[in-house]
Amino acid sequence: MHNNAPPVPTISWQPDRPSALCPGVARIIDQTCLPNAEVFLELRDSQTVWQAIRQLQVRGAPAIGIAAAMGLVLAVQNLDQNSPALLQALHKAADYLATARPTAVNLFWALARMRATAQNAVSLSPPEFKERLAQEALAIFNEDLEMCRAIGRHGAVLLRDGCSVLTHCNAGGLATAGYGTALAPIYRATEEGRSVSVYADETRPLLQGARLTAWELQRSGIDVTLICDNMAAQVMREKRVDLVMVGADRIAANGDAANKIGTYGLALLAHAHRLPFYVLAPTSTFDLHSADGAAIPIEERAAAEITEGFGRRTAPAGVKVYAPAFDVTPAALIEGIICEHGIIRKAPGATGFDLQMRHET
Ligand code: MRU
Repeated sequence: MHNNAPPVPTISWQPDRPSALCPGVARIIDQTCLPNAEVFLELRDSQTVWQAIRQLQVRGAPAIGIAAAMGLVLAVQNLDQNSPALLQALHKAADYLATARPTAVNLFWALARMRATAQNAVSLSPPEFKERLAQEALAIFNEDLEMCRAIGRHGAVLLRDGCSVLTHCNAGGLATAGYGTALAPIYRATEEGRSVSVYADETRPLLQGARLTAWELQRSGIDVTLICDNMAAQVMREKRVDLVMVGADRIAANGDAANKIGTYGLALLAHAHRLPFYVLAPTSTFDLHSADGAAIPIEERAAAEITEGFGRRTAPAGVKVYAPAFDVTPAALIEGIICEHGIIRKAPGATGFDLQMRHET
């Protein structure tokens, strides 16, 4: 980080005793309280993990996956049963956690990985079975951190000294194990001694850009300017930004990318202003079972997040509201997808990416 700020404490696993990982608690910073207060929560069962994900106390695709993996450890760690019974309990808890939010594929990816680990560990003793699950949840955490750092290395080559990046929502340390995806190249280029400034979209309705991205960039000493979402076109016309970098919640096999509502509009604006638009995400966000963006489920959220989001009513009672939380940016508008393996670009003349091919090689 630029000013040696400690890493953002998004989520961690805290064992009860130093001698073993299990039992323990998942500790998160409550993102709904930022930037006003740094409140930490200790999640002790899968129900509180489900609530924390649903209420966006922990949010951002990779962080949701990590929380769900830890949620499965919490679901079985205090059960006094044999390992096959623990496996059944884990499957039940995984079915339940899968209902917390629908769009970020990392949730389902992490649950599937934990199910497979549990299946392979079923012949172990119950204490060993539980310890194995905790190890896997920690591995998911550690690998995410590594992938974010690699994304930072690959993306930083696009950032020359003095450049300015526009971003949307929060795809930073708070959305991951740490370091972020869309913000990772900014951290990396800054560490390499270049000056990079950021325009952060406010990101209505829940203000992840204003509350979270501005908070974590400011904390790291990075030059950040907050704008309302509807100011992006003007900012581009005034040539205040050189490129756009955003995260993703799910990327289909052709490169269509779901991300926070408003991302698609930003991609259209970038196209109109001939600015490169990059999507940054680890391969745990790739959904190769979805051929294109039409297959991606889009979460709809409560009307109150729009009508009462500022702590008071800002619309007439009873007004009809439509509240999709994500949109899909077509691959045709994306210059490149930056994952832990490098920058993926389209073949000359192609409108989509071939992530299937990329994944197999
Ligand atoms: O509703 P949220 O805050 O979970 O939405 C988060 C985003 O849209 C992020 O951009 C995405 O998850 C990428 S996080 C690295």
